[in-house]
Amino acid sequence: MEACGRILLARGKPCRNLKEAAETFRAPVDYAAAFGSDRPVELEVGCGNGGFIAELARRVPEKNYIAVELCTNVVLTAMERIVREDIPNVRFLNIPAEILACYIPPHSVDRIYLNFSTPLPEAGREKQRLTSDRFLAIYKQLLKEGGEIVQKTDSAPFFDYSLRKFRENGFEVKDVTYDLHASEWAAENIVTEYERNFSEKGCRICRAVAVYQGERGA
Ligand SMILES: C[S@@+](CC[C@H](N)C(=O)[O-])C[C@H]1O[C@@H](n2cnc3c(N)ncnc32)[C@H](O)[C@@H]1O
Repeated sequence: MEACGRILLARGKPCRNLKEAAETFRAPVDYAAAFGSDRPVELEVGCGNGGFIAELARRVPEKNYIAVELCTNVVLTAMERIVREDIPNVRFLNIPAEILACYIPPHSVDRIYLNFSTPLPEAGREKQRLTSDRFLAIYKQLLKEGGEIVQKTDSAPFFDYSLRKFRENGFEVKDVTYDLHASEWAAENIVTEYERNFSEKGCRICRAVAVYQGERGA
């Protein structure tokens, strides 16, 4: 963790009560200080071992990336990869996405990637799904008008739920596919760790883009 400290922007919860933290605590990231440049910023929420964000950052050096991950052991692996591979444009938040607005300045983000978020089909866990009303309200605080959420999942029921939630929350949905690897977007696709596992088992991958409409879609 020490060796990776320079690319870790924040860690843990600012106070025990997440709801209170989300509403009251503010420590906005100074992008210019964090990255040494003021380039467009994109987020990945639930980055896992960091394979996707490492490859994306390598392919698009003219953007800056913040990878968000709840689990400390997992984020450590991701950070070690970025340090080892000497990728200059990725930083990390080791926090629950519930408190993203504490750290990400309002309407400062161009794109949010949600790669293989856990579907959590049990009714009682809806609030924890990363495309529930609660999280979409958070992403709306972070995204610029015209900014996008790009979702990939192997779970068609979770995908259908997410498409419905995007629309109900005023996002415009586009570029929908239920078979990404056979689609026109296959060539540019960066395969994540979970995606590789699922497709090796024969699962089809769903993918869509949800565009934030600003106040019009409020
Ligand atoms: C199923 S894994 C997918 C990992 C990676 N995106 C991939 O496609 O290989 C989901 C990841 O999201 C993280 N996660 C789940 N809920 C989260 C939350 N509320 N905030 C931040 N990370 C979260 C988990 O710890 C886990 O690493």
